[in-house]
Amino acid sequence: MSPTFGRRTFFRGAAVLLAGVAAAACSRSEQAPPRGFDGDPRPLPIPPLYEGELIDDRRHFQVTTQAGSAEILPGVDTPTWGFSGDHLGPTFRARRGEKVRVDITNELDEMTTIHWHGMKLPAWADGGPHSPIEPGATWSPEWSVDQPAATLWYHPHPHEVTALHCYRGLAGMFILDDEVSERLDLPHEYGVDDIPVIIADAKFHADGQLDEEIDPTFGLLGDTPLVNGITHCSFAATTRRVRLRVLNASTMRFHHLALADARPLHVIASDAGLLAAPEEVDSVLLSPGERVEIIVDLKPGEEVALESVGLDNNFGIPTDEYSPDFGFADQFTLLHMTGPGEDAPEARALPGELDPAASISPEVADAPRREFVLNTFEINGQVMDMNRVDFLIDHRGPEVWTVTNENSDWPHNFHVHDARFQVLGFSGTDVTEMAASGWKDTVALPPGATVELAVEFGWYPDNTVPYMFHCHMLMHEDSGMMGQFMVVEPGERAALEPLSGHGPHH
Ligand code: C2O
Ligand code: CU
Ligand code: CU
Repeated sequence: MSPTFGRRTFFRGAAVLLAGVAAAACSRSEQAPPRGFDGDPRPLPIPPLYEGELIDDRRHFQVTTQAGSAEILPGVDTPTWGFSGDHLGPTFRARRGEKVRVDITNELDEMTTIHWHGMKLPAWADGGPHSPIEPGATWSPEWSVDQPAATLWYHPHPHEVTALHCYRGLAGMFILDDEVSERLDLPHEYGVDDIPVIIADAKFHADGQLDEEIDPTFGLLGDTPLVNGITHCSFAATTRRVRLRVLNASTMRFHHLALADARPLHVIASDAGLLAAPEEVDSVLLSPGERVEIIVDLKPGEEVALESVGLDNNFGIPTDEYSPDFGFADQFTLLHMTGPGEDAPEARALPGELDPAASISPEVADAPRREFVLNTFEINGQVMDMNRVDFLIDHRGPEVWTVTNENSDWPHNFHVHDARFQVLGFSGTDVTEMAASGWKDTVALPPGATVELAVEFGWYPDNTVPYMFHCHMLMHEDSGMMGQFMVVEPGERAALEPLSGHGPHH
Protein backbone atom coordinates (compact mmCIF):
# COMPACT_ATOMS: atom_id res chain seq x y z
CA MET A 1 0.00 0.00 0.00
CA SER A 2 1.33 3.41 -0.92
CA PRO A 3 1.97 5.86 1.91
CA THR A 4 -0.49 8.28 0.33
CA PHE A 5 -3.40 5.91 0.81
CA GLY A 6 -4.98 5.33 4.15
CA ARG A 7 -7.06 2.65 5.75
CA ARG A 8 -10.44 3.94 4.69
CA THR A 9 -9.49 3.76 1.05
CA PHE A 10 -8.25 0.23 1.54
CA PHE A 11 -11.53 -0.93 3.05
CA ARG A 12 -13.52 0.76 0.38
CA GLY A 13 -11.24 -0.77 -2.23
CA ALA A 14 -11.90 -4.22 -0.77
CA ALA A 15 -15.66 -3.65 -0.85
CA VAL A 16 -15.42 -2.57 -4.45
CA LEU A 17 -13.65 -5.82 -5.35
CA LEU A 18 -16.48 -7.81 -3.80
CA ALA A 19 -19.05 -5.76 -5.67
CA GLY A 20 -17.52 -6.77 -8.96
CA VAL A 21 -16.02 -5.29 -12.07
CA ALA A 22 -18.71 -2.71 -12.85
CA ALA A 23 -18.26 -0.98 -9.52
CA ALA A 24 -14.48 -1.17 -9.75
CA ALA A 25 -14.60 0.78 -12.99
CA CYS A 26 -16.18 3.72 -11.14
CA SER A 27 -13.57 3.95 -8.41
CA ARG A 28 -10.99 5.46 -10.68
CA SER A 29 -8.50 6.94 -8.33
CA GLU A 30 -8.37 4.16 -5.74
CA GLN A 31 -6.48 1.67 -7.85
CA ALA A 32 -2.97 3.10 -7.74
CA PRO A 33 -1.23 6.06 -6.14
CA PRO A 34 -1.43 9.14 -8.33
CA ARG A 35 1.50 9.93 -10.58
CA GLY A 36 4.11 12.23 -9.08
CA PHE A 37 3.92 10.84 -5.52
CA ASP A 38 6.94 8.56 -5.46
CA GLY A 39 10.26 9.64 -4.04
CA ASP A 40 10.81 12.44 -1.58
CA PRO A 41 8.34 15.31 -1.45
CA ARG A 42 9.44 18.59 -3.04
CA PRO A 43 9.37 21.83 -1.06
CA LEU A 44 5.99 23.58 -1.14
CA PRO A 45 6.17 26.38 -3.72
CA ILE A 46 4.94 29.70 -2.32
CA PRO A 47 3.33 32.01 -4.90
CA PRO A 48 5.09 35.40 -4.76
CA LEU A 49 3.42 38.02 -2.59
CA TYR A 50 2.27 40.98 -4.67
CA GLU A 51 1.33 44.19 -2.86
CA GLY A 52 1.29 46.33 -5.99
CA GLU A 53 2.39 49.91 -5.88
CA LEU A 54 0.73 52.17 -3.33
CA ILE A 55 0.28 55.68 -4.69
CA ASP A 56 -1.64 57.86 -2.24
CA ASP A 57 -4.44 55.56 -1.09
CA ARG A 58 -4.56 53.63 -4.36
CA ARG A 59 -2.91 50.28 -4.84
CA HIS A 60 -1.99 49.61 -8.44
CA PHE A 61 -1.47 46.06 -9.67
CA GLN A 62 -0.38 44.83 -13.10
CA VAL A 63 -0.63 41.25 -14.31
CA THR A 64 -0.64 39.32 -17.53
CA THR A 65 -2.37 36.10 -18.42
CA GLN A 66 0.15 33.99 -20.29
CA ALA A 67 1.05 30.52 -21.47
CA GLY A 68 4.09 28.69 -20.13
CA SER A 69 5.13 25.37 -18.72
CA ALA A 70 5.61 24.03 -15.21
CA GLU A 71 7.03 21.00 -13.41
CA ILE A 72 3.72 19.91 -11.93
CA LEU A 73 5.12 16.38 -11.91
CA PRO A 74 8.79 16.08 -10.92
CA GLY A 75 11.05 16.17 -13.96
CA VAL A 76 8.24 16.62 -16.49
CA ASP A 77 7.39 19.87 -18.31
CA THR A 78 3.65 20.38 -18.61
CA PRO A 79 2.21 23.23 -20.70
CA THR A 80 0.25 25.49 -18.35
CA TRP A 81 -1.24 28.96 -18.02
CA GLY A 82 -0.44 31.50 -15.35
CA PHE A 83 -0.64 35.10 -14.20
CA SER A 84 2.64 36.97 -14.78
CA GLY A 85 4.35 33.57 -14.82
CA ASP A 86 4.06 30.01 -16.00
CA HIS A 87 1.48 28.64 -13.57
CA LEU A 88 -1.00 30.00 -11.00
CA GLY A 89 -0.51 33.63 -9.95
CA PRO A 90 0.96 35.96 -7.36
CA THR A 91 -0.87 36.42 -4.05
CA PHE A 92 -2.38 39.90 -4.12
CA ARG A 93 -2.61 41.72 -0.81
CA ALA A 94 -4.56 44.90 -0.04
CA ARG A 95 -6.10 46.57 2.96
CA ARG A 96 -9.63 47.60 3.78
CA GLY A 97 -10.21 51.23 2.81
CA GLU A 98 -7.75 51.22 -0.08
CA LYS A 99 -8.66 51.80 -3.69
CA VAL A 100 -7.46 49.06 -5.98
CA ARG A 101 -6.75 49.16 -9.69
CA VAL A 102 -5.58 46.14 -11.65
CA ASP A 103 -4.31 46.25 -15.22
CA ILE A 104 -4.70 42.79 -16.70
CA THR A 105 -3.13 42.24 -20.09
CA ASN A 106 -4.20 39.12 -21.90
CA GLU A 107 -1.16 37.56 -23.57
CA LEU A 108 -3.01 34.33 -24.31
CA ASP A 109 -4.27 33.70 -27.80
CA GLU A 110 -7.87 33.47 -26.64
CA MET A 111 -10.35 35.63 -24.75
CA THR A 112 -10.64 35.25 -20.99
CA THR A 113 -12.04 37.24 -18.06
CA ILE A 114 -10.75 37.65 -14.50
CA HIS A 115 -13.16 37.55 -11.57
CA TRP A 116 -12.43 38.61 -7.97
CA HIS A 117 -14.11 35.81 -6.06
CA GLY A 118 -15.54 37.00 -2.74
CA MET A 119 -15.01 40.69 -3.42
CA LYS A 120 -17.81 43.22 -3.02
CA LEU A 121 -17.35 45.57 -5.96
CA PRO A 122 -19.16 47.22 -8.88
CA ALA A 123 -20.49 44.77 -11.46
CA TRP A 124 -18.39 46.23 -14.29
CA ALA A 125 -15.24 45.46 -12.25
CA ASP A 126 -16.35 41.99 -11.09
CA GLY A 127 -14.85 40.23 -14.11
CA GLY A 128 -17.73 37.93 -14.90
CA PRO A 129 -18.60 36.68 -18.40
CA HIS A 130 -19.66 40.21 -19.48
CA SER A 131 -16.10 41.53 -19.16
CA PRO A 132 -14.09 39.77 -21.89
CA ILE A 133 -10.40 40.57 -22.28
CA GLU A 134 -9.49 39.89 -25.88
CA PRO A 135 -5.98 38.66 -26.79
CA GLY A 136 -3.58 41.59 -26.57
CA ALA A 137 -6.07 43.78 -24.71
CA THR A 138 -5.76 45.23 -21.21
CA TRP A 139 -8.72 45.44 -18.83
CA SER A 140 -8.47 47.79 -15.84
CA PRO A 141 -11.06 47.30 -13.13
CA GLU A 142 -11.04 49.63 -10.10
CA TRP A 143 -12.83 49.46 -6.81
CA SER A 144 -12.54 50.34 -3.13
CA VAL A 145 -11.95 47.54 -0.67
CA ASP A 146 -14.88 47.82 1.70
CA GLN A 147 -15.20 44.52 3.52
CA PRO A 148 -13.50 42.68 6.39
CA ALA A 149 -10.13 40.93 6.17
CA ALA A 150 -10.43 37.67 4.28
CA THR A 151 -8.76 35.16 1.98
CA LEU A 152 -10.28 35.72 -1.44
CA TRP A 153 -9.10 34.56 -4.85
CA TYR A 154 -9.14 35.43 -8.51
CA HIS A 155 -9.77 33.27 -11.53
CA PRO A 156 -11.15 33.39 -15.09
CA HIS A 157 -14.90 33.44 -15.70
CA PRO A 158 -15.44 33.32 -19.50
CA HIS A 159 -18.82 31.97 -20.50
CA GLU A 160 -18.70 28.18 -20.98
CA VAL A 161 -14.91 27.77 -20.62
CA THR A 162 -14.23 28.77 -17.01
CA ALA A 163 -13.30 25.20 -16.01
CA LEU A 164 -10.66 24.82 -18.73
CA HIS A 165 -9.07 28.20 -18.04
CA CYS A 166 -8.84 27.49 -14.31
CA TYR A 167 -7.64 23.93 -14.90
CA ARG A 168 -4.74 25.17 -17.04
CA GLY A 169 -3.55 27.12 -14.01
CA LEU A 170 -5.21 30.53 -13.88
CA ALA A 171 -5.90 30.93 -10.17
CA GLY A 172 -4.42 33.10 -7.45
CA MET A 173 -5.10 34.20 -3.90
CA PHE A 174 -6.16 37.72 -2.83
CA ILE A 175 -5.58 38.49 0.83
CA LEU A 176 -7.40 41.39 2.46
CA ASP A 177 -6.27 42.83 5.79
CA ASP A 178 -8.02 45.22 8.14
CA GLU A 179 -7.56 46.73 11.59
CA VAL A 180 -9.05 43.67 13.27
CA SER A 181 -6.86 41.14 11.47
CA GLU A 182 -3.71 43.21 11.97
CA ARG A 183 -4.24 43.53 15.71
CA LEU A 184 -4.72 39.82 16.38
CA ASP A 185 -1.91 37.66 17.67
CA LEU A 186 -2.06 35.28 14.71
CA PRO A 187 0.65 34.21 12.27
CA HIS A 188 0.79 36.86 9.56
CA GLU A 189 4.19 36.67 7.89
CA TYR A 190 3.43 35.57 4.35
CA GLY A 191 5.34 32.47 3.28
CA VAL A 192 6.93 32.09 6.73
CA ASP A 193 4.09 31.28 9.11
CA ASP A 194 1.13 32.46 7.00
CA ILE A 195 0.95 29.98 4.17
CA PRO A 196 -1.22 29.84 1.06
CA VAL A 197 -2.43 26.31 0.30
CA ILE A 198 -4.10 26.26 -3.11
CA ILE A 199 -5.54 22.84 -3.82
CA ALA A 200 -6.33 21.79 -7.36
CA ASP A 201 -6.15 18.58 -9.33
CA ALA A 202 -5.16 17.34 -12.73
CA LYS A 203 -5.20 14.31 -14.97
CA PHE A 204 -2.30 13.70 -17.31
CA HIS A 205 -1.57 12.08 -20.64
CA ALA A 206 1.38 9.67 -20.65
CA ASP A 207 3.71 12.44 -21.95
CA GLY A 208 2.81 14.73 -19.04
CA GLN A 209 0.45 17.04 -20.92
CA LEU A 210 -2.74 17.95 -19.10
CA ASP A 211 -5.61 15.71 -20.14
CA GLU A 212 -8.27 18.25 -21.09
CA GLU A 213 -11.02 15.84 -22.02
CA ILE A 214 -14.24 17.04 -20.40
CA ASP A 215 -16.16 14.03 -19.15
CA PRO A 216 -19.94 14.51 -19.49
CA THR A 217 -20.43 13.74 -15.78
CA PHE A 218 -17.13 14.60 -14.11
CA GLY A 219 -15.89 17.46 -16.26
CA LEU A 220 -12.18 17.99 -15.58
CA LEU A 221 -12.15 16.09 -12.28
CA GLY A 222 -8.52 15.05 -11.88
CA ASP A 223 -7.07 11.98 -10.18
CA THR A 224 -3.89 13.77 -9.06
CA PRO A 225 -4.08 16.38 -6.28
CA LEU A 226 -1.86 19.46 -6.57
CA VAL A 227 -0.92 21.95 -3.87
CA ASN A 228 0.35 25.33 -5.05
CA GLY A 229 0.71 23.78 -8.48
CA ILE A 230 2.71 20.60 -7.81
CA THR A 231 2.27 17.03 -6.64
CA HIS A 232 3.66 15.62 -3.39
CA CYS A 233 5.08 18.55 -1.46
CA SER A 234 6.28 19.38 2.01
CA PHE A 235 6.43 22.56 4.10
CA ALA A 236 9.31 22.91 6.56
CA ALA A 237 8.01 25.18 9.33
CA THR A 238 10.42 27.50 11.10
CA THR A 239 7.84 28.46 13.72
CA ARG A 240 5.75 26.37 16.09
CA ARG A 241 2.52 27.86 14.84
CA VAL A 242 1.46 28.15 11.21
CA ARG A 243 -1.64 29.55 9.62
CA LEU A 244 -2.81 27.72 6.51
CA ARG A 245 -5.01 29.69 4.13
CA VAL A 246 -6.59 26.81 2.26
CA LEU A 247 -8.36 27.43 -1.04
CA ASN A 248 -10.10 24.68 -2.95
CA ALA A 249 -9.42 25.84 -6.50
CA SER A 250 -10.37 22.45 -7.97
CA THR A 251 -12.76 22.50 -10.87
CA MET A 252 -14.93 19.64 -9.52
CA ARG A 253 -13.38 17.93 -6.50
CA PHE A 254 -14.46 18.36 -2.89
CA HIS A 255 -11.84 17.87 -0.16
CA HIS A 256 -12.56 16.65 3.35
CA LEU A 257 -9.53 18.02 5.19
CA ALA A 258 -7.99 16.59 8.32
CA LEU A 259 -4.56 16.17 9.87
CA ALA A 260 -3.02 12.72 9.51
CA ASP A 261 -2.68 12.05 13.24
CA ALA A 262 -6.31 13.11 13.79
CA ARG A 263 -5.36 16.07 15.98
CA PRO A 264 -8.06 18.76 15.93
CA LEU A 265 -7.99 21.67 13.49
CA HIS A 266 -8.36 25.21 14.79
CA VAL A 267 -10.45 27.10 12.26
CA ILE A 268 -10.08 30.87 12.42
CA ALA A 269 -11.70 32.05 9.19
CA SER A 270 -14.15 31.02 6.52
CA ASP A 271 -14.66 32.31 2.94
CA ALA A 272 -15.52 35.90 3.79
CA GLY A 273 -13.39 36.51 6.84
CA LEU A 274 -12.48 35.75 10.43
CA LEU A 275 -14.83 33.85 12.69
CA ALA A 276 -15.99 35.47 15.91
CA ALA A 277 -13.85 32.94 17.82
CA PRO A 278 -11.61 29.97 16.88
CA GLU A 279 -13.43 26.68 16.40
CA GLU A 280 -11.93 23.30 17.09
CA VAL A 281 -13.05 20.61 14.64
CA ASP A 282 -11.82 17.19 13.50
CA SER A 283 -12.20 17.94 9.80
CA VAL A 284 -13.41 20.54 7.33
CA LEU A 285 -15.16 19.91 4.03
CA LEU A 286 -14.15 22.33 1.29
CA SER A 287 -16.12 22.35 -1.96
CA PRO A 288 -14.77 24.04 -5.11
CA GLY A 289 -14.29 27.78 -4.49
CA GLU A 290 -14.47 27.64 -0.67
CA ARG A 291 -11.68 28.79 1.67
CA VAL A 292 -10.82 28.09 5.26
CA GLU A 293 -8.00 29.36 7.45
CA ILE A 294 -6.65 26.92 10.00
CA ILE A 295 -3.99 27.12 12.68
CA VAL A 296 -1.64 24.17 13.09
CA ASP A 297 0.77 23.95 16.03
CA LEU A 298 3.91 21.93 15.33
CA LYS A 299 6.41 20.64 17.87
CA PRO A 300 10.11 20.75 17.03
CA GLY A 301 11.04 17.86 14.77
CA GLU A 302 7.55 16.46 14.42
CA GLU A 303 5.89 15.56 11.13
CA VAL A 304 2.24 15.78 10.29
CA ALA A 305 0.38 15.85 7.00
CA LEU A 306 -2.68 17.67 5.81
CA GLU A 307 -4.86 15.04 4.20
CA SER A 308 -8.02 14.77 2.25
CA VAL A 309 -9.81 11.88 3.95
CA GLY A 310 -12.63 9.85 2.50
CA LEU A 311 -16.11 10.83 3.64
CA ASP A 312 -17.77 7.76 5.16
CA ASN A 313 -21.20 9.00 4.05
CA ASN A 314 -20.02 9.68 0.46
CA PHE A 315 -21.69 13.12 0.87
CA GLY A 316 -25.11 11.48 0.70
CA ILE A 317 -24.51 10.11 -2.79
CA PRO A 318 -25.56 6.47 -3.15
CA THR A 319 -22.62 4.09 -3.53
CA ASP A 320 -24.42 1.64 -5.81
CA GLU A 321 -22.92 0.85 -9.19
CA TYR A 322 -25.36 3.21 -10.98
CA SER A 323 -24.38 6.34 -9.09
CA PRO A 324 -21.43 8.41 -10.27
CA ASP A 325 -18.31 8.42 -8.10
CA PHE A 326 -17.32 12.06 -7.55
CA GLY A 327 -14.35 11.00 -5.43
CA PHE A 328 -15.81 11.63 -1.97
CA ALA A 329 -14.23 8.40 -0.69
CA ASP A 330 -10.80 9.17 -2.13
CA GLN A 331 -7.93 9.74 0.24
CA PHE A 332 -4.89 11.88 -0.52
CA THR A 333 -1.95 13.29 1.35
CA LEU A 334 -2.02 16.92 0.29
CA LEU A 335 0.81 18.53 2.22
CA HIS A 336 3.52 17.13 4.47
CA MET A 337 4.63 19.50 7.22
CA THR A 338 7.67 19.31 9.49
CA GLY A 339 8.07 21.13 12.79
CA PRO A 340 10.63 23.84 13.54
CA GLY A 341 13.98 23.56 15.32
CA GLU A 342 14.18 23.24 19.13
CA ASP A 343 14.98 26.94 19.49
CA ALA A 344 11.72 28.13 17.93
CA PRO A 345 9.86 30.18 20.55
CA GLU A 346 6.71 28.71 22.14
CA ALA A 347 3.43 29.85 20.64
CA ARG A 348 1.11 31.77 22.93
CA ALA A 349 -2.48 30.69 23.55
CA LEU A 350 -4.74 31.31 20.55
CA PRO A 351 -6.81 34.49 20.95
CA GLY A 352 -10.20 33.58 22.41
CA GLU A 353 -11.89 36.25 20.33
CA LEU A 354 -11.17 36.94 16.66
CA ASP A 355 -13.67 39.29 14.98
CA PRO A 356 -16.58 40.04 17.33
CA ALA A 357 -18.48 41.67 14.44
CA ALA A 358 -18.62 38.26 12.75
CA SER A 359 -21.12 37.06 15.34
CA ILE A 360 -23.67 39.73 14.42
CA SER A 361 -26.45 38.18 12.34
CA PRO A 362 -28.25 40.26 9.74
CA GLU A 363 -31.84 41.23 10.59
CA VAL A 364 -33.85 39.09 8.17
CA ALA A 365 -37.34 38.79 9.68
CA ASP A 366 -38.88 40.98 6.95
CA ALA A 367 -36.25 40.40 4.29
CA PRO A 368 -37.26 39.52 0.72
CA ARG A 369 -37.01 35.78 0.02
CA ARG A 370 -35.94 33.95 -3.12
CA GLU A 371 -35.75 30.26 -3.98
CA PHE A 372 -33.25 28.45 -6.13
CA VAL A 373 -33.60 24.82 -7.17
CA LEU A 374 -30.47 23.18 -8.57
CA ASN A 375 -30.99 20.19 -10.85
CA THR A 376 -28.37 18.75 -13.19
CA PHE A 377 -27.26 21.80 -15.23
CA GLU A 378 -30.26 24.03 -14.43
CA ILE A 379 -31.30 26.51 -11.78
CA ASN A 380 -35.07 26.90 -11.43
CA GLY A 381 -35.52 24.94 -14.67
CA GLN A 382 -33.35 27.23 -16.79
CA VAL A 383 -29.81 27.25 -18.10
CA MET A 384 -27.68 30.39 -18.14
CA ASP A 385 -28.50 32.95 -20.82
CA MET A 386 -26.15 35.94 -21.14
CA ASN A 387 -29.14 38.02 -22.28
CA ARG A 388 -31.52 37.15 -19.42
CA VAL A 389 -31.37 38.91 -16.06
CA ASP A 390 -33.12 36.66 -13.58
CA PHE A 391 -33.96 39.28 -10.96
CA LEU A 392 -33.12 42.71 -9.65
CA ILE A 393 -32.12 43.67 -6.13
CA ASP A 394 -33.24 47.25 -5.62
CA HIS A 395 -32.74 47.70 -1.90
CA ARG A 396 -29.78 47.81 0.46
CA GLY A 397 -30.96 45.25 3.00
CA PRO A 398 -30.22 41.52 3.24
CA GLU A 399 -32.29 38.80 1.59
CA VAL A 400 -33.07 35.23 2.57
CA TRP A 401 -32.22 32.76 -0.17
CA THR A 402 -33.26 29.13 -0.06
CA VAL A 403 -31.20 26.81 -2.24
CA THR A 404 -32.12 23.17 -2.87
CA ASN A 405 -30.08 20.43 -4.54
CA GLU A 406 -32.82 18.44 -6.25
CA ASN A 407 -30.49 15.80 -7.69
CA SER A 408 -30.42 12.46 -5.90
CA ASP A 409 -26.85 11.46 -6.76
CA TRP A 410 -25.02 14.66 -7.67
CA PRO A 411 -23.34 17.12 -5.35
CA HIS A 412 -23.57 20.84 -6.05
CA ASN A 413 -22.54 24.03 -4.37
CA PHE A 414 -23.75 27.61 -4.65
CA HIS A 415 -21.77 30.82 -4.97
CA VAL A 416 -23.01 34.42 -5.13
CA HIS A 417 -21.01 37.35 -6.52
CA ASP A 418 -20.78 40.71 -4.72
CA ALA A 419 -22.12 39.06 -1.59
CA ARG A 420 -21.45 37.29 1.66
CA PHE A 421 -23.91 35.12 3.55
CA GLN A 422 -24.50 33.31 6.80
CA VAL A 423 -25.94 29.82 6.75
CA LEU A 424 -29.22 29.86 8.72
CA GLY A 425 -29.69 26.09 8.46
CA PHE A 426 -29.75 22.92 6.41
CA SER A 427 -32.62 20.50 5.93
CA GLY A 428 -33.30 17.44 3.81
CA THR A 429 -29.98 15.70 4.46
CA ASP A 430 -28.22 13.62 7.11
CA VAL A 431 -24.83 14.87 5.98
CA THR A 432 -23.33 17.26 8.52
CA GLU A 433 -19.86 17.99 7.14
CA MET A 434 -20.78 21.18 5.25
CA ALA A 435 -18.91 24.18 6.64
CA ALA A 436 -21.51 26.41 8.19
CA SER A 437 -19.75 28.85 10.49
CA GLY A 438 -19.00 32.45 9.75
CA TRP A 439 -19.55 34.57 6.70
CA LYS A 440 -19.28 32.68 3.43
CA ASP A 441 -19.71 33.18 -0.30
CA THR A 442 -19.90 29.54 -1.39
CA VAL A 443 -21.80 26.68 0.26
CA ALA A 444 -21.86 22.93 -0.44
CA LEU A 445 -25.12 21.04 -0.97
CA PRO A 446 -25.44 17.24 -0.68
CA PRO A 447 -28.21 15.55 -2.71
CA GLY A 448 -31.65 16.48 -1.40
CA ALA A 449 -30.35 19.24 0.84
CA THR A 450 -31.91 22.66 1.25
CA VAL A 451 -29.88 25.47 2.75
CA GLU A 452 -31.25 28.78 3.98
CA LEU A 453 -28.91 31.75 3.62
CA ALA A 454 -29.00 35.32 4.96
CA VAL A 455 -27.31 37.19 2.09
CA GLU A 456 -25.79 40.69 2.17
CA PHE A 457 -24.82 42.40 -1.08
CA GLY A 458 -22.38 45.13 -1.97
CA TRP A 459 -24.34 48.28 -2.89
CA TYR A 460 -23.06 49.48 -6.29
CA PRO A 461 -26.28 50.03 -8.21
CA ASP A 462 -25.83 49.65 -11.98
CA ASN A 463 -28.62 48.52 -14.27
CA THR A 464 -26.33 47.68 -17.18
CA VAL A 465 -24.05 44.87 -15.93
CA PRO A 466 -25.21 41.77 -14.03
CA TYR A 467 -23.59 39.72 -11.27
CA MET A 468 -23.57 35.92 -11.35
CA PHE A 469 -24.84 33.22 -9.01
CA HIS A 470 -23.88 29.66 -9.83
CA CYS A 471 -22.71 26.21 -8.91
CA HIS A 472 -18.91 26.42 -8.47
CA MET A 473 -18.36 22.89 -9.75
CA LEU A 474 -17.04 24.53 -12.88
CA MET A 475 -18.29 21.97 -15.37
CA HIS A 476 -21.80 22.61 -14.00
CA GLU A 477 -21.34 26.36 -14.28
CA ASP A 478 -20.05 26.02 -17.84
CA SER A 479 -22.96 23.74 -18.74
CA GLY A 480 -25.56 26.31 -17.70
CA MET A 481 -25.94 26.12 -13.92
CA MET A 482 -25.64 29.87 -13.52
CA GLY A 483 -27.91 32.88 -13.48
CA GLN A 484 -27.63 36.67 -13.43
CA PHE A 485 -28.91 39.40 -11.12
CA MET A 486 -28.44 43.12 -10.95
CA VAL A 487 -28.19 45.50 -8.03
CA VAL A 488 -30.15 48.62 -9.04
CA GLU A 489 -31.59 51.79 -7.54
CA PRO A 490 -35.07 51.35 -6.05
CA GLY A 491 -37.63 50.95 -8.84
CA GLU A 492 -35.01 50.93 -11.59
CA ARG A 493 -35.29 48.49 -14.51
CA ALA A 494 -32.57 46.45 -16.17
CA ALA A 495 -30.97 47.91 -19.28
CA LEU A 496 -28.59 45.05 -20.01
CA GLU A 497 -25.95 45.85 -22.55
CA PRO A 498 -24.50 42.54 -23.67
CA LEU A 499 -20.72 42.61 -23.16
CA SER A 500 -21.00 46.00 -21.52
CA GLY A 501 -18.50 45.52 -18.76
CA HIS A 502 -15.43 47.13 -20.26
CA GLY A 503 -15.31 50.28 -18.21
CA PRO A 504 -16.98 52.31 -15.53
CA HIS A 505 -20.47 53.57 -16.32
CA HIS A 506 -20.79 56.13 -13.60
CU1 C2O B 1 -15.28 31.87 -8.15
CU2 C2O B 1 -18.47 33.18 -10.24
O1 C2O B 1 -16.85 32.50 -9.21
CU1 CU C 1 -17.21 34.74 -7.45
CU1 CU D 1 -23.27 21.68 -9.51
